[in-house]
This record gives sequence, C-alpha cells and structure tokens, in this order.
Amino acid sequence: MKFHITTFGCQMNVHDSQWLTRALESRGWQEAGEDEALVYIFNTCSVRDKPEQKVYSEIGRIAAHARRDPRVFVAVGGCVAQQIGRGFFERFPFVRLVFGSDGIAGAPNALERIVAGSDERAALLDFMPAYEEREAALEQSAGSAAGSGRQAFVTIMQGCDNFCAYCIVPYTRGRQKSRHPDAVVEECRALVDSGVREITLLGQNVNSFGMDKGGAGVSFGGLLRQVAAIKGLDRLRFTTSHPKDIAPEVIAAFGEFETLCPSLHLPLQSGSDAMLKAMRRRYTLGHYMGIVEALKQARPDIVLTTDLIVGFPGETEADFQATLDALAAVGYDSSFSFKYSDRPGVAAVNMEPKVDPQVAAERLMRLQTLQNSITRKCLKMLVGTETDVFVEGLSRIQGGDAPSWKGRDPAGRVVNVRMEYGGCEDAGDLVGMMVPVRITEAKKYTLMGEGTGTPW
Ligand code: 5AD
Ligand code: SF4
Repeated sequence: MKFHITTFGCQMNVHDSQWLTRALESRGWQEAGEDEALVYIFNTCSVRDKPEQKVYSEIGRIAAHARRDPRVFVAVGGCVAQQIGRGFFERFPFVRLVFGSDGIAGAPNALERIVAGSDERAALLDFMPAYEEREAALEQSAGSAAGSGRQAFVTIMQGCDNFCAYCIVPYTRGRQKSRHPDAVVEECRALVDSGVREITLLGQNVNSFGMDKGGAGVSFGGLLRQVAAIKGLDRLRFTTSHPKDIAPEVIAAFGEFETLCPSLHLPLQSGSDAMLKAMRRRYTLGHYMGIVEALKQARPDIVLTTDLIVGFPGETEADFQATLDALAAVGYDSSFSFKYSDRPGVAAVNMEPKVDPQVAAERLMRLQTLQNSITRKCLKMLVGTETDVFVEGLSRIQGGDAPSWKGRDPAGRVVNVRMEYGGCEDAGDLVGMMVPVRITEAKKYTLMGEGTGTPW
C-alpha cells in the first residue's frame, strides 16, 4: 500500500512520523509522493491557530482524489486529531482514522485493518495511564542524515503537567508520562550500535523526567549521565526544557560531558514578571537569568535559543519592552516568536484585556528585527573560527566546482560547506560524517565554511 505522511509542528511530531513511516514500511507499505499515494496521513499540530487551519485546508485538498478513487482515505494524527476527534469523520467523509498522541502506537495495525476492509472507521483517542512502549523500528527512513542512520530522536516522555495559561498541549498530549529509563538507555545503545552518532532526547518538558511514576526514581540528570556515557555517541542533545525544572546537575552536565552539545533551547516566553505570572510559568526573569549565568559558567561557549510570545492578554508596552531587554541581555543566537493566539479550553481565553492584533503584529515585528540583529552579530563573531560540522545532506543551493554540503556545528547552527570528498566523480558522500571546517562567512541565518581536514 502506498502512503504519504505530512507533518506539522514540533520535533515530537517529526519523530512520531518517522516512527510511523518505519512501522508501516516493516508491514510492506511504501512511502510515496503526493500524487501516487492512496493513504494520506496528517500528523497535526494545534499549538497555535494558524497551523490548525492549515491542517483543514490540506486535508480538503484530498477530497477530489478520494471522490475519484474509493481506495483513497485520510488518517489524522497528533494534537488536532486529539482535540477534534471523531469530529473529523463528520467534516470529511474520507477521513477513516483519527489517532491521538497515545493512540499512535496502535495506528499501524488500525491502518492495516482499514485497508483490509475489516474496519470502516477507527478512533484511537484514549490517554494511557503510563508511557506505552512502541514496537522497535530502528532503521531510519531515507533522505537525510537520519536516512544515513547517523542521527536519531529518542522519546523519553509524553505529555505535560504544567498547564501554562496559553497552552493546549496538556489537553492534547495528556498528563506527563516518563518512559522507563532502562528502555530509553537500551534504545540509545541499540541506535549507537547500529551507527547513530547523534541522539536528541525528546519530551515536552524533559527536565521533569522522572517526576511521575514512570521514571522509576531516575531524574533527568541521571538519565543524561547514563546516555552520555554510551561509547561511540558523538553528539547528545535534548529538548524542550522548562526553566522552572532545570536541575543544577543538568546545568553542571554541560561542563562534564563532552558529548553533550553546547546548546540549550530554554523557552522564556516573556521578559516581564507580570506576564510570566499571568502565563503561569512559575519563574521570574531573575530566576531565569540566574540559570543563564550558571549555564555560561558551566560551559562558556553555550548557545541559547528560546520561544517568546507577544501580545499575551494584558501585555503593556512596558511588559513588551522587558521582553526586548531580556532578549538583548541573554543574546540568544536565535528565537522562535509568536503572537498569542486563543486556543480552545486554555486559561488565557478568559483573560482580559486582549491585545489589539495590530499592536501584537507590530510588537512581533520589532522583536524579530532585534533578534535578527543579535543573530547577525552572533554569526559574524564566528567567521575565522574552526569547528566540526556534522553533515546532514547536500545544500539547497549548488554551484561552483565542489558540491556544497549542509550540516550543523556542535551548537546546532546550520553551516554550508563546500567540499570535494573522495576525489571520485560524484564527489563521494559526506552525509553522516563530521567535517573539520573553518567558518568563512556569515549569512543572515546561516554560516558558510570550507573543509580543512579529513572527514571522520
Ligand atoms: N499562542 C501563541 N504561542 C503559543 N505557544 C504555545 N501556545 C501558544 C499560543 N496559544 C508557543 C510557545 C511555545 C511554543 C511551542 O509555541 O512559545 O513554547
Ligand atoms: Fe505547553 Fe507549558 Fe507544557 Fe510547554 S511547559 S507544553 S508551554 S503547558
């Protein structure tokens, strides 16, 4: 059976889609282009209104195809599926499966049953009381460094208990459920044994790993220690972190483990204590800045990135100014910034006064302008320095004699490297290799470099 997956949203969704792809391939299904598929799977995101609307318009595009060919159907997974549930069946007659974040483990079998004709429609929307192990699917799908079997994500937990006032995630992904640490370490070890060099540990709030029953008494710091000790692993990352839960042992780990990459995504959301309180973030800017200080002490070259929301209900110009000041004070390499958007059922829906959409749009633009200038400064400082780039694929733009490769430095910045390898006609394949590189130029968001030594 030919299937096509479209993924929206966070890295958890990207990883879920990769797993689902491999689980279906192991059942003999083939991933196909948009024109050839018979089963269309949408892995969705409802964290903001815009991506949610996109889901409906993308699913709508399948309607004509489904009318022409009765074999064609759609499966919807992820956060919008959890939120809308069976509502999808009424809205689109050709949607035959909906599955939530805990239901994904059963999705491959459900899809098989539908194709075999034994199920007309199915909904996998129940939240499980504990993390449900999925069937192992270690082989990587093609087309990237993940395709070369060198890069992998490993889920360490599901869900979130924080209920930040703006966020729908606790409703769509359910309560926090840590995976058993032994299962995590075992999967990481198996991945490294199969040739994986870089692992990213994933969870909505990895710092609170083990604070529920599933962690078997092992904290996130403890888990990190075990994974970092795996021989043969070159790079270890984790995301996402909540500032209120980051433990001193995790901060110290950045100075202790060479494999732990010097980068941390630490969502601030706002630089105003009044807004942080209204957002129910449970830290102050002062506390956050203390963490930043400690991180820089543990690892002076650490690179920080963040998420920010502008136009949260009640945000004044002074509150917004505090966010700009925090942005400049931390000096984030890059940030994701969003206009607050009302999400069904979250606490902030009932908070007043709402910020005028035009004011919010203007604040977002000012914030992004400031971020761009900080990003440019951060990148410019790197020109002339040497680093190792882990090659993920060919660059989008080619030209000149040698091929151009896209990869990442240890901090996760994108570096395009022009380099011949192997001297053979097709220039050899650098995907999945580390290349010693000198940075030659800073572009707006990325770096350019040249290879200086033998790839390894
Ligand atoms: N409106 C705008 N941004 C939001 N985010 C989460 N919920 C909302 C919302 N309702 C942002 C936060 C979070 C990121 C993944 O999305 O910044 O960290
Ligand atoms: Fe949403 Fe807050 Fe949980 Fe992050 S920590 S997923 S922002 S509720």
